[in-house]
Amino acid sequence: MSKLPLISPSLLSADFGNLQRDIEMLNQSQCDWLHVDVMDGIFVPNISFGQPIVKHIKKHARKPLDVHLMIMDPGRYINDFRDAGADIITVHYEACTHLDRTLHAIKDAGLKAGVVLNPHSPVSLLEDTVQICDLVLLMSVNPGFGGQKFIDNTFEKVRQLRALLDRKNPHCLIEVDGGVTTDNAHQLVEAGADVLVAGSAVFKSPDPQQTIIALKQ
Ligand code: DX5
Ligand code: ZN
Repeated sequence: MSKLPLISPSLLSADFGNLQRDIEMLNQSQCDWLHVDVMDGIFVPNISFGQPIVKHIKKHARKPLDVHLMIMDPGRYINDFRDAGADIITVHYEACTHLDRTLHAIKDAGLKAGVVLNPHSPVSLLEDTVQICDLVLLMSVNPGFGGQKFIDNTFEKVRQLRALLDRKNPHCLIEVDGGVTTDNAHQLVEAGADVLVAGSAVFKSPDPQQTIIALKQ
């Protein structure tokens, strides 16, 4: 039997008019992290929210905040998001000119650091990066919106990344984000995924807490 994945529900699909209620629901659930999607309208074609909202999320959350920065040059904002309450920060390979410096800045801020690959970016780009990562996030949709269809090529990328990590950093976690449902969760874990992000699958479900259990198993 493969080990159980960590589940990181994406608050992008939560009800922002009732954010506290939705966070309390996740506090009571079997999820492991809260996934927080920050979008700048430049790196991705959508704007979500910034540090002030993250601060409010932190006030109510009883689980680590997994902050996914979909912003250009995220290195400018590492300490701001640390101060807002991030426990983990992931930054896009495609948004960083000095990725190595940015990942070290996240670690120097006392946080877990991860790099994210868009669907078009091959795993081989991470040959010289995974040594300093606590996690790698593979996008299984083009970032910017919740509720998109899962890209099947992700299974193969998870396997390739697992092989790279076995060689270079076996403790590094693999996270998958976008279009994750109870239909593909098992196959992702079999391929080597450790953390599953799920937005609409959780929040559009009639029983989100039960769906989190189902995603785990
Ligand atoms: C997409 C975000 C995802 C999104 C996932 O750009 O990074 O975290 O919220 O939503 P679902 O699970 O609905 O695809
Ligand atoms: Zn995300």
